[in-house]
Amino acid sequence: MTHEWAVEAHGLVRTFGDNRAVDGVDLSIRTGSVYGVLGPNGAGKTTTISMLATLLRPDAGEARVFGHDVVREAQVVRQLIGVTGQYASVDETLSATENLVIFSRLLGLGRAEARRKAAELLETFGLTEAATRPLKNFSGGMRRRLDLAASLIAQPPLIFLDEPTTGLDPRTRAQMWDTIRELVATGSTVVLTTQYLDEADQLADRIAVIDRGRVVAEGTADELKDAVGNQSLQLGLVAAADLGSALDIVTTFGVPATTSPEARRITVPVTGPDEVTDLLVRLREARIAVDSISMDKPSLDEVFLTLTGHGVAADGEDDTAGTAAAGDVACPTTSTREEALR
Ligand SMILES: Nc1ncnc2c1ncn2[C@@H]1O[C@H](COP(=O)(O)OP(=O)(O)O)[C@@H](O)[C@H]1O
Ligand SMILES: [Mg+2]
Repeated sequence: MTHEWAVEAHGLVRTFGDNRAVDGVDLSIRTGSVYGVLGPNGAGKTTTISMLATLLRPDAGEARVFGHDVVREAQVVRQLIGVTGQYASVDETLSATENLVIFSRLLGLGRAEARRKAAELLETFGLTEAATRPLKNFSGGMRRRLDLAASLIAQPPLIFLDEPTTGLDPRTRAQMWDTIRELVATGSTVVLTTQYLDEADQLADRIAVIDRGRVVAEGTADELKDAVGNQSLQLGLVAAADLGSALDIVTTFGVPATTSPEARRITVPVTGPDEVTDLLVRLREARIAVDSISMDKPSLDEVFLTLTGHGVAADGEDDTAGTAAAGDVACPTTSTREEALR
């Protein structure tokens, strides 16, 4: 019998000294889905995952995996999960094949079956040529792939992937995405942490945006985008010198704007074509030349900026010079956020 919820967490807290790394996190993750936990470095992603995976004890709150309490029934939970990513659990001096064979044997596979499984996984992850090399000679990307391969030997019902693609080249990253999709297609639930908005957008059925230990938004990628505004207008200016005066005009519409001075670009959440027309007329009256216009759903980058008031790479520092005010203006009240994401 399958449980409806792979993960149910309520009020999870974990402090390190006086740092509340995880500060009251609730999560509900449906069985059979890919769930994205999205946040910048230091947001509390790994700490959250570690508590769900029984590797760290929560200071407060509770969590269940397929209905089993992660503290009281930790042994049961461990048999239902696989964890990969920032806990590479492989032996450096052994080869890739040897590592996978050992994992397989530990999981109860026979000798021949273990060899067959190891060879098959190495093939899948493009590691066949490196199969006999010791791990200490592996690149970061190769390690990541081997780590995931190791977790697939058992293919547990719930797999935690902690930043599976951080630092990978685009090709390996795409390969990893395919593997993750395949895992879910073949019956696993995947919880994935990421700093990449496009990754969450591509893979995750639902996303929790986490910032400073708290979930600041939760929903599908589309819901998160809708929370920021229906549409987003991108204006490309002919002259970078016009950026300031263009922004003045844009803000008289009462809408926030993000800017990129290098790209001479302004991004404005808009309600519809009428507003766009009015805005363009005003720009022309002010003799501000526009050389490109496009309308799109807001990117998850904009969503993040709107929800947290700072960009994804921001760690206290504001990395989005000139947009701090816009971020503040754009930030909806907690209740409108919750409403939009319901
Ligand atoms: N073992 C630890 N000891 C002390 N502080 C920690 C420890 N692990 C994480 N932290 C702190 O907790 C916060 C959240 O870290 P982490 O969960 O690793 O974030 P993320 O995975 O989102 O980058 C950070 O401020 C980090 O420095
Ligand atoms: Mg982490």
